[in-house]
Amino acid sequence: MSPFRLTRTLPEDATGAALRADVRAGLTGSPKTLPPKWFYDARGSELFEEITALPEYYPTRAEREILLARADEIAAASGARTLVELGSGSSEKTRHLIAALDGLHTYVPVDVSESALTGAGQALAAERPGLEVHALVADFTAELALPDTPGPRLVAFLGGTVGNLLPAERSAFLASVRALLAPGDALLLGTDLVKDERTLVRAYDDAAGVTAAFNRNVLNVVNRELGADFDPDAFAHVAVWDAEQEWIEMRLRSRTAQSVKIPALELVVDFAEGEELRTEVSAKFRQEGVRAELAAAGLDLTRWWTDGEGRFALSLSVAR
Ligand code: SAH
Ligand code: AVI
Repeated sequence: MSPFRLTRTLPEDATGAALRADVRAGLTGSPKTLPPKWFYDARGSELFEEITALPEYYPTRAEREILLARADEIAAASGARTLVELGSGSSEKTRHLIAALDGLHTYVPVDVSESALTGAGQALAAERPGLEVHALVADFTAELALPDTPGPRLVAFLGGTVGNLLPAERSAFLASVRALLAPGDALLLGTDLVKDERTLVRAYDDAAGVTAAFNRNVLNVVNRELGADFDPDAFAHVAVWDAEQEWIEMRLRSRTAQSVKIPALELVVDFAEGEELRTEVSAKFRQEGVRAELAAAGLDLTRWWTDGEGRFALSLSVAR
């Protein structure tokens, strides 16, 4: 059994304060929005894992296919002794990469979901004797204080989660990732690719309704944490493709005119019948766009791999 350590980088009430600020700003603005990071309480993390097994949700399978085929190449190109994974969730696909990284000294999974980190981190530490697993409960959009571990460092950001950031957030985020790297260190980035609308919408509106439950779960989080009285069933799950922005939007559409009380904010929020609350964007990418965004952050794209059906890409880029 290897060492497993978990560090909470946030002060005791930081999460509560951040949720209050996000909910107030998001539900008093027009149109109404909530940031997607609040999906992932323990139940939300479980629902996401269910999504990854759905027949309609191809990104996880496509990315796993690429990782299985390319893990040795990635390992040889990076020579990483420290692997930092942002938004690591269950770390399920990352196992293949960890197995290929012979000289790996420390794995640092970073996630807002403590339940996901604990489950994944303990399993990995047990699986790979000698590997230090130092999990960080942290927001990857904030400044990260990483443990002092040997280089070279490889930062992995898998699953297409980069697409859940808005364009301005994405450029700030990529610059902050660059700041975690020394020249020659690398970023392994998973990006879902632009494809036909039907495939995309089905991936975010599955027949079994798991994505709908995941979407509504954010209302349960606000109810529990801020004492609100959202009735999740009073909102319909909506997934639409925005062809101009090239992103999927998930929304919750109010089935009726209703008022929701949020006591922790001393706020009452009115919804008109049919009014929509945006809960997530999931941007889809093209190679040239990814290359340009990385270059603007000081990262040179050196490898680009896709799955056999060209649905999803993994890229390796190197810090200048
Ligand atoms: N990488 C995994 C999980 C993707 S789900 C995969 O490819 O399957 C997205 C993960 O990012 C969740 O585990 C969620 O808790 C985490 N996450 C979302 N926003 C975050 C943020 N701002 N900071 C840290 N983790 C975040
Ligand atoms: C984590 N992220 C990449 C997922 C996505 O596809 O945008 C979250 C998700 N939302 C709905 N289904 C899955």
